[in-house]
Amino acid sequence: MALKFITADEAAALINNGDNVGFSGFTHAGCPKVVPGAIAKRAKEEHGKGNPFKINVFTGASTGDKLDGELTRAEAINFRAPYQTNKDMRNAINNGGVKYCDLHLSTMAQDIRYGYYGKIKAAVIEACDVTEDGEIVPTCGVGISPTVARLADVVIVELNTWNPKEMRGMHDIPEPQDPPHRKDIPIYAVRDKVGKCFIKIDPAKIYVVETHVPNEGGHFAPVDEVTAQIGKNVADFFIKEMAEGRMPKSFLPVQSGVGNIANAVLAAMGDSKDIPDFDVYTEVIQDAVIDLMESGRVKFASGCSLTVSNPCVEKIYKNLDFFKERVLLRPSEYSNNPEVVRRLGVIAINTAIEADIFGNINSTHVMGTKMMNGIGGSGDFTRSAYVSIFVTPSTAKDGKISSIVPLVTHEDHSEHSVKIIISEYGVADLRGKCPRERAEEIINKCAHPDYRPLLHEYLNSSVKGQTPFDMYNAFAFHKAFAETGDMHNTKWENK
Ligand code: COA
Repeated sequence: MALKFITADEAAALINNGDNVGFSGFTHAGCPKVVPGAIAKRAKEEHGKGNPFKINVFTGASTGDKLDGELTRAEAINFRAPYQTNKDMRNAINNGGVKYCDLHLSTMAQDIRYGYYGKIKAAVIEACDVTEDGEIVPTCGVGISPTVARLADVVIVELNTWNPKEMRGMHDIPEPQDPPHRKDIPIYAVRDKVGKCFIKIDPAKIYVVETHVPNEGGHFAPVDEVTAQIGKNVADFFIKEMAEGRMPKSFLPVQSGVGNIANAVLAAMGDSKDIPDFDVYTEVIQDAVIDLMESGRVKFASGCSLTVSNPCVEKIYKNLDFFKERVLLRPSEYSNNPEVVRRLGVIAINTAIEADIFGNINSTHVMGTKMMNGIGGSGDFTRSAYVSIFVTPSTAKDGKISSIVPLVTHEDHSEHSVKIIISEYGVADLRGKCPRERAEEIINKCAHPDYRPLLHEYLNSSVKGQTPFDMYNAFAFHKAFAETGDMHNTKWENK
């Protein structure tokens, strides 16, 4: 069957007010780049005529500005799941303009299949290749594309020739059966391939929009003194674990979170001569992994996306044969699958916004209310990891915020799932410790020295029980920041 080629505006006309629309990509990687802008334009035109026009947006994770940014600025989004990192989207969520459902990324595709969100009307998928018999080869990110492409009535393929067709072979694209018919996932080693290298759907519902637009890859902040020290502390922790027999000397696959700190931690691990060459079983493959692959330190990487800067992706495209032997991009329900993570013994390293003295972690909310990004895949990995680690600088905002607080203002990962917390000051090992011991460990090893006396005061004057607690002062640090802009000014009530 001959493929149907249309323009971006014609594609946008296939989407209607109130539609559930699934988009490809995972972070900026693999996101469509022209159809979302055309939908935004259509929304503005409809709003100009006094007509409502908002869609519900489902993706693998966050997206580029050409998707979340343009649609948000056009006030074209009613509902958004499961993750975002866009400044305008973040403001719209926190102002109540967009309804945001923050989800574990491994569950997004299956929740759609289970019918939790209703019918997917359209899917918009960026591809480097599409064939007349309905094979779609994604670009740098897979996310939920297989599920939304199969379920949608209409599939708009953005054929983006900035990405070479020769990427075919870099993807591993299975889709599981739903319960009660689901089988185990036969990934027994990081490099095991369990699916096809393309998404296969009915070609009759495909419309193709041709584009040639570069990725929206940003850049990572240079490693500074604090992030370098956190990275060194992580590497030293692994060396000790291997020496003391708690971790195999051959090492284990590594998952590392998103952002600057995660990128710096991986770079430090690569620099450590005492950590053997290792595999990566992760969600986003960032620049540091690619650099370590070139130097031979990373042997193989399984992930959902190549979330790399544009110079880095251009380097990959120039040397595709090398990278196709070492990289597999899978749907998020496979890259982040708890069954596989537990089986492979993945070491999970994620970043906290704040941690409390008992080991509960807030990854998402600033001062308890403002959404930063979302939980992403951190929960998928943390709960099932061989060892779950959270890293954080001891302070934020020039020292005015302590990242270690008496009680987190929002909880994403509970004390039951978190084994290790690492700041630039040291490593708090929470394994086998009761809440009071954990509190001493976290305060003494990870908190900034300025805040240690205050944290000890809180702990020592709390009501004793299994977990010490002071209902008047649990949020005294946050109250001080809200009232004076600095947690150093913490004052206690009823003491
Ligand atoms: N209170 C207020 N703001 C804080 C804070 C705190 N306790 N801790 C950090 N911040 C701010 C920083 O100041 C910075 O602000 P800026 O953008 O204005 O400079 C911002 O949060 C990002 O922090 P940064 O230190 O640059 O770290 P990062 O880029 O590594 O991001 C997270 C850290 C937690 C926001 C990020 O890792 C995240 O979204 N995690 C949740 C999802 C996840 O873990 N995914 C991985 C799964 S594979």
